[in-house]
This record gives sequence, C-alpha cells and structure tokens, in this order.
Amino acid sequence: MAKHARRDRKFRFLLAAAAAVAVSLPVAAIAATSDGTPAAPSPSPQVEPRIVGGGEASIKDYPYAVFLTDAKGNQFCGGVLVSSSAVATAAHCAAAVAQSDMRVVAGRQEKAGTDGVVANVSHVWTEPNFSDPGKGDDVAVLGLDRQLPYRPVSLPGKSDASLYSAGTNATVVGWGRTSDGGARATSLRSAVVPIVSDSSCLSSYSNYDANSMVCAGYPNGGVDACQGDSGGPLVEGDTLVGIVSWGDGCAKAGKPGVYARVSTYAADIRAQSQQRGLL
Ligand code: ARG
Repeated sequence: MAKHARRDRKFRFLLAAAAAVAVSLPVAAIAATSDGTPAAPSPSPQVEPRIVGGGEASIKDYPYAVFLTDAKGNQFCGGVLVSSSAVATAAHCAAAVAQSDMRVVAGRQEKAGTDGVVANVSHVWTEPNFSDPGKGDDVAVLGLDRQLPYRPVSLPGKSDASLYSAGTNATVVGWGRTSDGGARATSLRSAVVPIVSDSSCLSSYSNYDANSMVCAGYPNGGVDACQGDSGGPLVEGDTLVGIVSWGDGCAKAGKPGVYARVSTYAADIRAQSQQRGLL
C-alpha cells in the first residue's frame, strides 16, 4: 500500500513536472477529451483522470457546488453555498436571468435529475463596482428562500496569501461545456488546475487585474473551466479561492481561466451571507 502510494506520488510529481515544462498536455477540462479536439494521448493509462484533467465528480465530494437555472430549468451557471441559505456566484451570472426566474439547484449530480433541493432567490447582492467580467469584481451573493441541508464551502481568511502562490493546485467543478464550443455536461465534473502567477497572467491578458482576479491553468492549456461553469467554485481543499469568471475560449494554450479572487471579496461575501441568509 505504502509503496504504491509512494509510487503514485512520485508519478504525480513527474506529471506535474511534465505539465510545467509543457511536454505533454493534460487534455480535458471540466472540458472533456473527446469532441473535436484531437486529444493528446494521456501520459499513461493508469493515471487517475482527476489528476491530469477533467473527469466526472461526485456531488458528495463537493456538497457546496450548486447550479443556477432559469424558470424553465435550463442550467446557465454554477454557484457555491457559502452558508445554509446563501450562494456566491459570478455577478454576470446573477445579471443573466431575472431574480424571480432564477433557481438554485443543490445536492444534485445530474442536471436532469430530481434529487436535491431547488431554492428560489429572495435577494441578489452584486459587488457594487461590477460592470463587466473583464474589468473584475465579478462576484454576487444570492440569498435563498430556504435553508439547504448541505455543507457550505469555507472562505479564505485574511492571511491566506499562500492559497494564491503560483503552482498551487486548485480544483474547479461545474456542469458547463466539456470543450470549447462543445456540448454541456450532463453531470458534475471537476478538473485540477494550478494557480498561475500574476505576471504570467498579465502577459496572457492585458486587462488582468491581480486585485480582483486570479488565473489558473497549464501553460499548454488542455484543462480549464468553460461556458456554463461561470459562478462555480475553484477550491483548494474546502476553501473557496476563486469563482469562475472568464477566459479566451476554453483550455487554449497561453490562455488560462480567469476567476474572481475570493480573498478580496471574502469579507463582503461573509457579511452578505450573514445578512441575507436565514441562518
Ligand atoms: N463566462 C463563462 C460562463 O459564463 C465562463 C468562462 C470561463 N472560461 C474559461 N476559459 N475558464 O460560463
């Protein structure tokens, strides 16, 4: 067992190193390998998919992951429980559908499933400076009309700068597209993406703002969030470090995913969830 675990760790390290020097592409994001894009062969068949790229995830492992639908039940964004009755999401998601039409689906694995709880939105708070995802401040908190029986995510503390050091692995989860321009997932997926340094992200995007945003992804792309994942969580362990916000396409080389930098907004999110939540 121990030997196996050691070998496994060593293997993961080698993989990470390979990814870092961009030798082999971990293909698939929440984006999956298959459709269209010629999939670079997986470095090795015995690699766990959740390490090298995107794969199916269990809602039990991410009980705070929720999705947003319109009144007809069409999923359009993700979100994350920050208390039993408040959800953090992207401001551009909160603005996409009228509050009275918006639903929060929690505790559900399959989009088309019937398990879990569907809540209405009784209040929307949008970060006051938000205008456009490319300008940052892409954060909103939805107050729900009921308490949900699922564990909320943890918010970062003030002194958690290490969460954002380059190369730190984070996990993004959602029900969005499984390739750039491709089909939307039917079930929850997750992908591991390393945090990208501010200087590197600024060279990818001239409008990158290190105060309000953080980037994650591999130099050669291949793993990323995609359309429909917006508003969903980027976590390290059970700590929310980012909220899916924008990118240039999905999983392109040199174009990492851009997330709202949650540490900047943690105090606001906490205050809103305390005020708006039924607690
Ligand atoms: N704006 C997209 C949405 O509304 C999310 C884009 C994330 N893109 C990326 N390459 N990480 O769902």
